[in-house]
Amino acid sequence: MNVLVTGGTGYIGSHTVVELLAGGHTATIIDNLSNSSELVVDRIEQITGKQPNLHIFDLQDKNKLAEVFKKESFDAVIHFAGLKAVGESTQKPLAYYRTNIDSSLSLLEVMEEYGIPTLIFSSSATVYGSAPIPYSETSVVGQGITNPYGQTKYMIEQIIRDVGAANAALQFTILRYFNPVGAHPSGLIGEDPKGIPNNLMPYLSQVASGKRKVLSIYGSDYKTIDGTAARDYIHVVDLAKGHIAALMNKHTGTETYNLGSGKSTTVLELVNAFSEGTGQAVSYELAERRAGDLPEYYADAKKAEKELDWKTNKTIADICKDTWNWQSRNPNGYSS
Ligand code: NAD
Ligand code: UFG
Repeated sequence: MNVLVTGGTGYIGSHTVVELLAGGHTATIIDNLSNSSELVVDRIEQITGKQPNLHIFDLQDKNKLAEVFKKESFDAVIHFAGLKAVGESTQKPLAYYRTNIDSSLSLLEVMEEYGIPTLIFSSSATVYGSAPIPYSETSVVGQGITNPYGQTKYMIEQIIRDVGAANAALQFTILRYFNPVGAHPSGLIGEDPKGIPNNLMPYLSQVASGKRKVLSIYGSDYKTIDGTAARDYIHVVDLAKGHIAALMNKHTGTETYNLGSGKSTTVLELVNAFSEGTGQAVSYELAERRAGDLPEYYADAKKAEKELDWKTNKTIADICKDTWNWQSRNPNGYSS
């Protein structure tokens, strides 16, 4: 298939482009490089022997978007592009609503104009908010979302469902990711956060590499097995493969799938697994809970296994090994 990948030079997008090219598909990326590097396409070529086309512009520029659709004939679109920092979204809510919603609307309009029926959208477990765990696709969504970023995901999901319901020829898939971590085993692509990482795994690996002094573990009095918060960590290569499985699945209307492992791992368990698996000490301190964090959540991942024939294969040990391989080979990310 000929696939347009928005945000394809980003963390999850780049791993998905690798899986697309490795699977014999072709990929065209649109990315404004606001949170990624142009070097990613060379790294993708080193892994796959093929280079994806890259168009550098903002997805909100509907005219440029239409030009790309006019030139190329896409079979499907995978839509990763957007702003994703939870904390920043509470500081700059307008930027989040404008960028994430506007670019999704432009994309859907141009897809409609050019008759492209298939869309896969990156949503997040964050839409489940305060629903009981494990989160299943039938759980209530939209209650207790604690930040504007999460609200944009919830709102875009609704837009997608409404557009999908208006035309029986459309095939839309909403994928709700749990916590994506890890890197490609080659060590050539991985997560490259700008500035001080907000998320656990990049922070932890930067402490291990000596770039940061100590990891603060936010909260040690949760009702979990060791008091630290628990999440469902999913290796980014498993996650990327989930997109290929979704692409191959034929259905009408809009389907929603959780992409997670179905297993819950605490912060302390992850830190210990990292130290044991890599031999790198991770210095940490117990700190106050982080505002807006939930104690624990994980996926009910049965629907994706049943309908997409997809499940995670990689372990927490693989996650730690591949994260460290990426971090130690690229201590400063793509600018190393
Ligand atoms: P990322 O920031 O690495 O990738 C997003 C890419 O989109 C970047 O390359 C960025 O430059 C580009 N981009 C942003 N705004 C754009 C715009 N207006 N026009 C064109 N390009 C633009 O993030 P990621 O971790 O790869 O996440 C991909 C998607 O998955 C996002 O939609 C994110 O919200 C979603 N998601 C991520 C996580 C996670 O923890 N990483 C969890 C759940 C959902
Ligand atoms: N944590 C620490 N120290 C840190 C960073 C994080 O203890 O330096 C803790 C957090 O408090 C939380 C856990 O590690 O308990 C995981 O935190 P992350 O920031 O890595 O991930 P979140 O679960 O908060 O959220 C991530 C993405 C969201 C996405 C969600 C989907 O950041 O965009 O996963 O499940 F919506």
